[in-house]
Amino acid sequence: MRKDMIAGNWKMHATHLETIQMVQKLSYRLDAADYDRVDVVVCPPFTALRSAQTVIETDHLEIDLGAQHCYFEEKGAFTGEVSPQMLAKLSVSYVLAGHSERRQVFGETDADVNKKVKAIFAAGMVPIMCCGETDEEREQGMTEEKVGAQVRLGLQGLTTDQVTSIVLAYEPIWAIGTGKTASADDAGDMCTFVRNTVAEQFGEAADSVRILYGGSVKPGNIAGLMAKRDIDGALVGGASLDPDTFASIVRYWI
Ligand code: PGA
Repeated sequence: MRKDMIAGNWKMHATHLETIQMVQKLSYRLDAADYDRVDVVVCPPFTALRSAQTVIETDHLEIDLGAQHCYFEEKGAFTGEVSPQMLAKLSVSYVLAGHSERRQVFGETDADVNKKVKAIFAAGMVPIMCCGETDEEREQGMTEEKVGAQVRLGLQGLTTDQVTSIVLAYEPIWAIGTGKTASADDAGDMCTFVRNTVAEQFGEAADSVRILYGGSVKPGNIAGLMAKRDIDGALVGGASLDPDTFASIVRYWI
């Protein structure tokens, strides 16, 4: 009932020209059966979104476009920011919210993430809201407290319909870009915990929420992760930059 999703977060990589090549190469490696089974999303930087949109539309690709960030206001004197409405006009379907790099490097709070999530919905797109604990929090046994709070505060004030369509990503910070992955069992348990947290507030809507795992996902570990009942896909950083590698993550069952 929940369709798998594999999303590539390119972070601050790829010019608009490189993006065109990367999207095309990825599309050569995927076929209709793959898209039937998995929603494939790429999230290039802002400067490459228009080029990605053009390739996707011109070549009629079934790849969905995501953005990595937006501001929560629609327009105004916010130098350097991009609004959800601007992204929606570029056929962006998904926007990341609360990625740990935004939280840690740019100081985004749970309240900011909540405003952003609402603004993304208001513009007709779907947020991919991230949560996850640091190494230190994990060692202190605070993982559930931290992740539970991020989920509750991030979803505060949403309608049940919105929650039904949201995508969540559990990304332990110690596993991001480090080559260390949570074991499939631990990742699966945490995704179950995330779903239960959503259920406490929103009941059955939690069953429809897609929950991704993120943190050093590779072709070698994706199948084990996807076998877990509450893991519906992956948010992939480093390994999404190479179209061959990313395509083999998308086709995790092969
Ligand atoms: P990684 O990044 O796959 O390079 O660990 C994941 C992420 O930050 O979403």
